[in-house]
Amino acid sequence: MTVRFITLGLVGALLTLAGCDRPADLAHGQSLYGVCAGCHKLRENWTGPQHCWLVGRSAGTVPGFVYSQAVKESGLTWDEKTLDQFLTMPLSFLPGTKMGFIGYRDKKDRTDLIAYLKTHTADPQACAGIDKPL
Ligand code: HEC
Repeated sequence: MTVRFITLGLVGALLTLAGCDRPADLAHGQSLYGVCAGCHKLRENWTGPQHCWLVGRSAGTVPGFVYSQAVKESGLTWDEKTLDQFLTMPLSFLPGTKMGFIGYRDKKDRTDLIAYLKTHTADPQACAGIDKPL
């Protein structure tokens, strides 16, 4: 019995460490997105490329936006993992990127932000009429 409780305790501690103990906080993600919104709009290219249909698209493919070589030739597809890597420290992950954002170092911040990005950038109404890039 004791061994079982200890095992359960250990599993719980590991899950907590891995950040699996809480669902993503979308409201927190939205507030973190405020920084991104200084350069990105959903439907239009601005300082950065438009964000509609971001998750699932290939890096560097929004028509009309002039990307750095670093992003264009990265061969990445934006998904939870690559966004997590990029947004931790953009310049270290893709040296030469012209995205002037220092990064969110806290894993929980990135989890919340990426969860928000997944819904916000794929809002069928807000993104209606915008072609999904490849
Ligand atoms: C200071 C302006 C600025 C801020 C702030 C900023 N970005 Fe960017 N972002 C850019 C620019 C410029 C690019 C194009 C990068 C390149 O070509 O190297 C870019 C590119 C990207 C890309 C690649 C898109 C593609 O089409 O391949 C993603 C993803 C992205 N930004 C997400 C974010 C998120 C999420 C945030 C908020 C945490 C953010 N950005 C904050 C300017 C910014």
